[in-house]
Amino acid sequence: MAAHIDVKTPDGSYPIIIERGALATVGARAAEFGLMGSVGVITNETLAPLYGEVLCAALPDAHLITMPDGEQYKTLHSMSSLYSQMIAAKLDRSSTVIALGGGVVGDTAGFAAASYMRGVDFVQVPTTLLAMVDSSVGGKVGIDLPEGKNLVGAFKQPQLVLIDPDVLATLPPRERRCGMAELLKHGMIADPELLDLAVQPDADDEALIRRAVQVKVDIVEQDPFEKNIRAHLNLGHTFAHAIEIVSDFGWQHGEAVAIGLVAAARLSQRLRMGGQEIVERVEAVLTQVGLPTRMGDLAPEHLWAVMGTDKKWQGGHSRFVLLRAFGQVEIVRDVPKDDVFAVLRAIQ
Ligand SMILES: NC(=O)c1ccc[n+]([C@@H]2O[C@H](COP(=O)([O-])OP(=O)(O)OC[C@H]3O[C@@H](n4cnc5c(N)ncnc54)[C@H](O)[C@@H]3O)[C@@H](O)[C@H]2O)c1
Ligand SMILES: [Zn+2]
Repeated sequence: MAAHIDVKTPDGSYPIIIERGALATVGARAAEFGLMGSVGVITNETLAPLYGEVLCAALPDAHLITMPDGEQYKTLHSMSSLYSQMIAAKLDRSSTVIALGGGVVGDTAGFAAASYMRGVDFVQVPTTLLAMVDSSVGGKVGIDLPEGKNLVGAFKQPQLVLIDPDVLATLPPRERRCGMAELLKHGMIADPELLDLAVQPDADDEALIRRAVQVKVDIVEQDPFEKNIRAHLNLGHTFAHAIEIVSDFGWQHGEAVAIGLVAAARLSQRLRMGGQEIVERVEAVLTQVGLPTRMGDLAPEHLWAVMGTDKKWQGGHSRFVLLRAFGQVEIVRDVPKDDVFAVLRAIQ
């Protein structure tokens, strides 16, 4: 069943439409979607032949703008190439940018939309499961610098987020699993039933996406500029970032998030917040969808050192997002190092 979720923002609202086959109807519904003027469809070189060319052909005045495929291209250099292509396509202040792709395209194209001619209208068409349930919702856009990820960016609310679950048919299975980690994370934060639905063999993508998006929407509506409870979305992420770095990106982000969710559940249990049943359930659902629950032979000392560089660990005071129960998240500071090390050893 198609869904329409309205997201309230500090200065208005925008719809998220979740509908199988929606991409094929964009041409016929261009006016409804506010896409009658000139449009820059920003995508990458993998997605241009899969979906970009058809999307452009369906719109009255659309121009295909591309960047290379990969996180390593979420850069200032790509921004400058996008701006040049936007100028060449004669996009002006009344134009719309459509980001067609995963989180890399969404973040980069979004930042281009936020800054080109001081900002043009922006539509997100996410094509990875991660982008559908996470990065396309909430308005954060930006790029990486050589010094670190997501160091430059903006809050840019879209006019529309259009999610067509049918495009997941071409998504590589590993990317799908990575998106599942974030989807399950949203279930753990605020919709435990999503965990039951996601492990069913005939799980309906559209329904899973709708519920996971709703969790993110509820949180970003309460905290649009990431001042407080948006931090709940970082469940598992303190561990995950360290695991990604110490494994030299051998574990992809979503895989590291899965292991990080196990670590968060175990740390919650160790601190007598959550019970053993939470740990078991977290491990069971992740395993059922093919995600890892152990990180292998990574050194706790090294992981701890990387965690200590987290901006939110002010003055060496640790800070973890933990679970008292599914649907009940708490931020805990100054967790003893011994407890963290015990958990890190348990997930090796
Ligand atoms: N803005 C936010 O709030 C936010 C939140 C989470 C993550 N992010 C960012 O998102 C990025 C990760 O996004 P991602 O996981 O979507 O990775 P990605 O954008 O790199 O996409 C993964 C791969 O899948 C390919 N692909 C995408 N859709 C496809 C499809 N339908 N069929 C076939 N191939 C397809 C892409 O070309 C790419 O090779 C990171 O840069 C991260 O920082 C942003
Ligand atoms: Zn994440």
